[in-house]
Amino acid sequence: MDMKQHDTPLLDALIRHVETHDSYFHVPGHKQGRFFDKGGRPYFEEILKLDLTEVGELDDLHEPTGVILEAQRLAAHAFGATQTWFLVGGSTVGNLALVKTVCAPGDGIVVQRNSHKSVFNGCVLAGARPVYLQPARDAATGVYAGVSAEQLRGTLKRHPNVKAVFLTNPNYYGMAQPVDELAAVCERFGVPLIVDEAHGAHFSVHPQLPRSAIVSGATAVVQSAHKMLPAMTMTAMVHAHGTSAFREKLQVALTQLQSSSPSYPLLASLDLARKYYATQARCDVEKSLPVVKWLRDEINGRGEWKALSPDDPYKLILQRPGWSGYEIAAGLRSEGVPLELSDSANGLAVLPLGLGVRECDVLLQAVDRWSDKARVPKGSTWDVPPLDLPDVSVDLPLSQVVQQDGEWCPLEHAAGRIAKRAVLPYPPGIPVVLPGETFSRRVVEYIQFLLSYGARFQGVKVTPSNTYVEVVK
Ligand SMILES: Cc1ncc(COP(=O)(O)O)c(C=O)c1O
Repeated sequence: MDMKQHDTPLLDALIRHVETHDSYFHVPGHKQGRFFDKGGRPYFEEILKLDLTEVGELDDLHEPTGVILEAQRLAAHAFGATQTWFLVGGSTVGNLALVKTVCAPGDGIVVQRNSHKSVFNGCVLAGARPVYLQPARDAATGVYAGVSAEQLRGTLKRHPNVKAVFLTNPNYYGMAQPVDELAAVCERFGVPLIVDEAHGAHFSVHPQLPRSAIVSGATAVVQSAHKMLPAMTMTAMVHAHGTSAFREKLQVALTQLQSSSPSYPLLASLDLARKYYATQARCDVEKSLPVVKWLRDEINGRGEWKALSPDDPYKLILQRPGWSGYEIAAGLRSEGVPLELSDSANGLAVLPLGLGVRECDVLLQAVDRWSDKARVPKGSTWDVPPLDLPDVSVDLPLSQVVQQDGEWCPLEHAAGRIAKRAVLPYPPGIPVVLPGETFSRRVVEYIQFLLSYGARFQGVKVTPSNTYVEVVK
């Protein structure tokens, strides 16, 4: 291992600066916490000391030449990229910037239909025309997973002028795709492969984890460091190969889309997350993999429960026949253990890479307590199959929908109307209806069904008297 991977140049510069300067005369207004709300200060004070701006040797995220550049270079080396950028707007901003980098207004781009909303929003901002790739559904969970190389080849043959392919690997539930095969197809057709790897920042760190997209031949990859590595919320990285012209365009797009006052505590936590990935994560995974297996076996040994981990062992999918995923999540939450997300069939626990028996006990005890209390499933009507995402879906191009006026329409009258706003269960944030798609009767029923099971939605307005979605006027 490169011994420099133990260094944290950005954090060190921040600490040096704090120790040698008074920060009364520049932003932020809390002046390292001295003028912060007294009630909040005990919780914030250590972080507020580091909450500085681009002064002295602290460099500039948008044109880095010093410690930020050094920290990003260490990350590029650790993750196997030609160049890496630190992001303070999550994978969201990485996805927006990448679509903008590869597409000019009117350009086509192949997009997996179960992408995160930020990919579709990127298409709206760039004026791009998405061509959808329908993912296969995983039989054991009913969840949409990946696409095949053959499918991608067929789509690229039918749409030879697209500018890029944008895939998601893995999905929220840890189901991975054969990125090397998909990258080979893209290479043959001469288009860049962009991968949203928001949930796979830990990939490739151990041979028993899936290989990361950037080492599998993708041109550029977004990873939410905050999801699977020990980094603060909103932190992410983009790793890229590609030409220097491509990387310069990406730099410009990131500068346009990110704050001109990026948070130094967030950036420094990326420096630490990279150090963790490069120096400690492999050892943690080596130690915790048997614990993960033990946890899965324990849950599966409880008869009525099922615990699955399709590709990424650190995503634990929980099922209990007769109970919806929403009920599983609500049940465990009532025992003090919130899960990451739930859907109609599954609850999802995201495990730490350093999982130990103590954390396992917390989950197992909650499972046992709730199982004792909730013995008889209420979900006798649990027979609505998962929704098929629409095949040929865009009735109005995304970029045109934003120009149209919208109106809120009662959900029960929405069938046949064109969506003005995406409707998405959140999390995971994958739209069941995109702007420009027509609400079908089936989609309306599906949304009503999920709402009745307690799903949280974005793009749905629920009032005491009715439920509305926004449609084109
Ligand atoms: C697949 C996928 N991509 C991108 C994002 C956005 O990531 P972030 O929260 O880091 O902005 C998410 C968020 O859940 C996601 O699930």
